[in-house]
Amino acid sequence: MKAAEVRNRFVNHFVKYGHDVVPGVPLPFDDPNLLVVNSGMVQFVPYYSGDIDPPWVRATSVQKCVRTIDIEEVGKTTRHGTFFQMAGNFCFGDYFREEAIAMAWELSTSPVEEGGFGLDPERIWPTVFETDDEAYDLWHHKIGVPKERIQRRGMEDNLWSMGIPGPCGPSSELFYDRGPAFGAEGGPEVDEDRYMEFWNLVFMTSIRGPGQTKSDYQLVGKLPHNNIDTGLGVERMATLLQGVDNLYEIDETYPVLRRATELSDRVYSGSGTSDHSAQAQTDVQFRVIADHVRTALMLIGDGISPGNEGRGYVLRRIMRRAIRAARLVGITGPVFPELLPISRDAMSPSYPELDTDYDRIAMIAYGEEDAFLRTLSSGTTILDLAVRQTKERGGSLPGKEAFTLHDTYGFPIDLTVEIAAEHGLTVDESEFRRLMTEQRQRAKDDARARKSGGADMSVYRDFGPTQFVGYESLEADAKVLGVIKDGELVRVATPGEIVEVVLDRTSFYAESGGQVADEGVIELGDARLRVLDAQKALKELVVHRVQVESGELTAGLAARTLVDPEWRLAARQAHSGTHVVHAALREVLGPTALQSGSYNKPGYLRLDFAWSRALDGLDLRGVEESANAALRRDLPVTVEYMTLGRARELGALALFGETYDSTSVRVVEMGGAWSRELCGGTHVEHTSQIGIVTLTGDSSVGAGVRRLEGHVGIDAVRFLANERSLVSNLSSLLKVSSGELVDRVSGLVQRLRAVEKELVQIRSARLAAEASALVDCAETVHGARVLTTALPSDQQAGDVRTVTVKTANGITDAPAVVLFTSLSDGQITCVCAVNKPGVKAGLSAASLLERFAAATGGRGGGSAAVAQGGGGDPRSIEAGFRAVAALVSETMPH
Ligand code: SER
Repeated sequence: MKAAEVRNRFVNHFVKYGHDVVPGVPLPFDDPNLLVVNSGMVQFVPYYSGDIDPPWVRATSVQKCVRTIDIEEVGKTTRHGTFFQMAGNFCFGDYFREEAIAMAWELSTSPVEEGGFGLDPERIWPTVFETDDEAYDLWHHKIGVPKERIQRRGMEDNLWSMGIPGPCGPSSELFYDRGPAFGAEGGPEVDEDRYMEFWNLVFMTSIRGPGQTKSDYQLVGKLPHNNIDTGLGVERMATLLQGVDNLYEIDETYPVLRRATELSDRVYSGSGTSDHSAQAQTDVQFRVIADHVRTALMLIGDGISPGNEGRGYVLRRIMRRAIRAARLVGITGPVFPELLPISRDAMSPSYPELDTDYDRIAMIAYGEEDAFLRTLSSGTTILDLAVRQTKERGGSLPGKEAFTLHDTYGFPIDLTVEIAAEHGLTVDESEFRRLMTEQRQRAKDDARARKSGGADMSVYRDFGPTQFVGYESLEADAKVLGVIKDGELVRVATPGEIVEVVLDRTSFYAESGGQVADEGVIELGDARLRVLDAQKALKELVVHRVQVESGELTAGLAARTLVDPEWRLAARQAHSGTHVVHAALREVLGPTALQSGSYNKPGYLRLDFAWSRALDGLDLRGVEESANAALRRDLPVTVEYMTLGRARELGALALFGETYDSTSVRVVEMGGAWSRELCGGTHVEHTSQIGIVTLTGDSSVGAGVRRLEGHVGIDAVRFLANERSLVSNLSSLLKVSSGELVDRVSGLVQRLRAVEKELVQIRSARLAAEASALVDCAETVHGARVLTTALPSDQQAGDVRTVTVKTANGITDAPAVVLFTSLSDGQITCVCAVNKPGVKAGLSAASLLERFAAATGGRGGGSAAVAQGGGGDPRSIEAGFRAVAALVSETMPH
């Protein structure tokens, strides 16, 4: 049975039992605690906690999920995938344990011809939470599963939560015995590869408190009603029903694996998980490729671009691991152009947007791979140097080098290990791991510090949604529902204090959809608050951050919200300007230039879009002209509410990563179809009200994403006026007309270059003269000439190197060692050179420099003929010189 059919059967089964089909949400879901959706229930959390009344009593969905917590397990076990689809049934205060268990059992065991999955009932092993007698009895008495096939498990396995404070509950998991060929007997307690979990039924009843692991938290309360949350792993069910060994061999993943084997000179043997042979390692890599290529496709498909933080990093890491795995199985050259289309073909029957959007996806993926391949080659150069130095010095490659390669060049550690091994070297991995742990701790501390402003959302959960009236009016009468300071409700706030205020209604636009929050004031009798920010703390709850200017602020007071009209007008111009620029961009570059993010505030706009090369002057001018032509056409701006389906039919552009209510979305149009976007922002009524749009330029914000920035309205005029005065200042400074400026400046630059070149020549000639005068000062140590001297300060390292080598090679009648230093900014630059007779006599510049560095506390390295270094304490230079002379004395025959 194909994976798509598993999805269909699941949904049909629950529709039959009165469940509404709810579409899954995009992977980058809007939740401060999650980078990407990792479970089917994520979109339903507010309904469990009772924050919002659920629009349905029973729901079913198939949700795209990405989990990277077990990424190291991918390919090693048969069942860990970074991307997977979770099919679920959910209910909020309706049926509970008994029905959930019965419905799951029915679908799992009813025959395939009757729409079920046809699993053998005798091979299903349910687990229950250790104290959940009710579930145990239902399985045993109602369903008839014998006692020996029901296992009780602890908190770690059978108390489900999202890993953070929030809804949780005991769970009952269904495992399927795949037979003795897959491992030891004894149920899931003994072997979770043989007994494969395929369905998790969570009986959501409680609220959990904070804690670090799956078993060290407390239950702190009950949910307002009992709920059901289940998740069936579509890929796992497909694995069972397709009779394959693991989830990398099902219909949605195997085509990629197969193509990878064609590109490689190795074979895939489908070895089992207990095998640790070299062939089994190769198999693991093929599975990693199959899994990761698909995950990358789905993440990019949902609008994520590779980056160094957050979601972007999740994607980048996955792609790099895939590329590395390909390299390990001997595939050279780019793999994504080969494998991504195969994954698209496997997935697009269920997700057609992967097909229609493929140009954009490909551009991002291929661009990222190109960039990483370049990284690999520059990393390899640096690694080669480290390998050479390690060989000269002996011992293993320092963990610090491996860490720098990883941290700065994105060079994966196992690649470092592998390349080092090719040279017969080991890597100090424990040092590497220590540095990684240190860095992770730093990142954690950072994140904690950033979040402590308001990470605990529980205080907000006491409030219902805020009614936003700011589309119609800049002012609203409201009531203060709560005052919050440092995450806690407070009774009163006095002048000067900065606090958060929750109202029942507001005219303030809370930052969202790229538009910044409104500015203005809130008046309450004789008290007055300045609004510094407005954010949506929960889905529809607006929290105003205010400073009390006068009077006292307490809950219960009647308030009037007053948005600054000038601010709002400028904000509307900027937001409408962003839509205009987006439409103009697509007019000039074509429909793949799709916005992936935006930011706008009064006078300024910024738009990120999928595109892999810099715009040339002509494109930029074209976009600017097309945008301003749209302002001149004075297109009407209209707002309409419709279903998501209708908006899609009309071709309205939706932003990736946003979750839209499927029953009512807000569509903003400019000139009908010319610009049609799903948007919650505030806009002008006619495009001419934007005034004028100027673009300041475009820049790169990661592989395959460009950023356009510009100004609108009076700020655009000011921007142009500034440019004009810049040109006129330059003209008068250079005494030419503006038309002659470019020629004049390029002439000046050329002359400057020539002069600089001359200067370099003069400087090195002078340095050489000084150095040759020093040759006479060289001392003789057991027949070798040793010259160690501090040259004048502030020499360029390159010059010092040239003169040192020249001086050493200028001495031909005896072995010679020259070590010159120069200070700049209190730092030592030092170069050591040994002439040919010296090298023959066994002297090594690298060892001599190492001695010098050890004595001064600096570092450096190089070859027997020349070595270079720096750092260290300038006060110990003389001691360094003596150490060099001492080593010469030790080395030269007496
Ligand atoms: N929330 C549960 C899980 O993710 C069931 O959907 O396993």
